[in-house]
Amino acid sequence: MMSNAPTVRSGRHFLQIPGPANVPDRVLRAMAMPVIDHRGPEFAELGKEVVAGMKRVFKTGEMVVIYPSSGTGAWEAALSNTLSPGDRVLMFETGQFASLWRAMAVRLGLDVEFIPGDWRHGVDPAVVEEKLTADRAHQVKAVCVVHNETSTGIANRIPEIRAAIDRAGHPALFMVDTVSSLASIDYRHDEWRVDVTVCGSQKGLMLPPGLGFNAVSRKALAASDSARLQRSYWDWQAMRDTAQTGTFPYTPATNLLFGLRESLQMLLDEEGLDAVFRRHARHAEATRRAVAGWGLEVLCADPREYSSTVTAVLVPDGHDADRLREIILDAFDMSLGTGLGRVQGKVFRIGHLGWFNDLMLCGTLSGVEMGLHRAGIPHRAGGVTAALEYLAAR
Ligand SMILES: Cc1ncc(COP(=O)(O)O)c(C=O)c1O
Repeated sequence: MMSNAPTVRSGRHFLQIPGPANVPDRVLRAMAMPVIDHRGPEFAELGKEVVAGMKRVFKTGEMVVIYPSSGTGAWEAALSNTLSPGDRVLMFETGQFASLWRAMAVRLGLDVEFIPGDWRHGVDPAVVEEKLTADRAHQVKAVCVVHNETSTGIANRIPEIRAAIDRAGHPALFMVDTVSSLASIDYRHDEWRVDVTVCGSQKGLMLPPGLGFNAVSRKALAASDSARLQRSYWDWQAMRDTAQTGTFPYTPATNLLFGLRESLQMLLDEEGLDAVFRRHARHAEATRRAVAGWGLEVLCADPREYSSTVTAVLVPDGHDADRLREIILDAFDMSLGTGLGRVQGKVFRIGHLGWFNDLMLCGTLSGVEMGLHRAGIPHRAGGVTAALEYLAAR
C-alpha cells in the first residue's frame, strides 16, 4: 500500500510521550561543555548549587541525594536505605509504575500489601486510614504512593493521604514517587511530611534521562541507621556531606549537572514554580477539552485526580490505540505514549509536560485529530477547536 508518509523528515520531531520530555535548547547547550574534574573546586561549586536548587524544587530543608541513575534507581535507594528484610509495606495498584515499584519491593524481600485498583482511580485516603488504624502493632513500616501515575494520567492527592496517615496516628514512613510530577505539579516534601521523595531528571526537570533523586527526611535518615536491606551503591550515608562539600562519593554525571543548573535557573529564577504549575494545569485542561470535543473519554475517572502532565485517552472498543500511535508517528512524526500493562492497546497518552507551550500543544492535538481521522477511529471533529478556544480565552 502506498503510504503518504514523507520519506525525509523536516522540522522538529514532536516528542509528546510523558517523558523523557523535550529539553530546552539552552539546557542542551549548557551540557555541551568540556568535562571538568569532579574532585576540583569548580565542580564543588556546581554540586552545592544544584543540591541547593533541588531542595527548593522539593520544598525541603532536608537532605537531597542525586544519583547518576534513572528513576528506578531512586526507587531502590528509597526502599533499601530505610527498610529491613520482611518489613511490611503498603502499596497501591494505581497503574504500571506502582506495579513496578511493588515488584521491586517484593524482589528486595519486603512483605508488600498491594491494595488492588482499577487503573482509573487513585489512592483512596479512607483506605489508607482504615488499613493503618487496623495495624495496631505498627507492623507496616512504609506507605508508598506514586504521586502522578504516568501510565494512567492520575495524580494522587498526597496531602489527603498524609492527613489519613496522621488520623490513624501511625508512624510508618511515607514515600512518594514524583518522577512525573516534580517541577510540574505542586509538591511539598517538608510541608506534607514525606519521608522519601523519589524523582528522575527526564520529565518536569527538563533534562535528558540519567539523574535520580531522593529527598530524605530526618526520620528516614534515622531509619537508615538500622535498616538492614543490602545496599552499597545507593547508600545515603556516603552522601550526607554532599550539600556542604559539593562532592559526590563516586563519579557524578557531570554534564547532566551542568544541564540541571540551567534548568533550575529557568524553573526557579525565571518562570517560577507557581507559574510552571499553572502552565501545566492549563495545558492539561485544554487537552481534556480536546478529548471531550472528540467525544472520547480520558482514563482518569475522578476530576480531583486529573494529571497536569499526562492525559491517557481511551479509544473506543474494537480499535487499537497502538495502531493509531503508529499512524501518527508515520504520518506526522509525533511520538505519543503507549498504553502500558493492563491498558495496552486501549489508551494512548499525550504528554504535556516540561519545556512546552501553547503552540506545541496545538500542534500535538492537531496531530492527534488528524491521526484519529486517518485511523478511522470514530470521533467528532472539533476537539482541537475546543482546545484553541480555551487557550485563546485565558
Ligand atoms: C511515575 C514513574 N515512576 C518511576 C518511573 C521509572 O523511572 P525510570 O524509567 O527513569 O527508571 C517512571 C518512568 O517513566 C515513572 O513515570
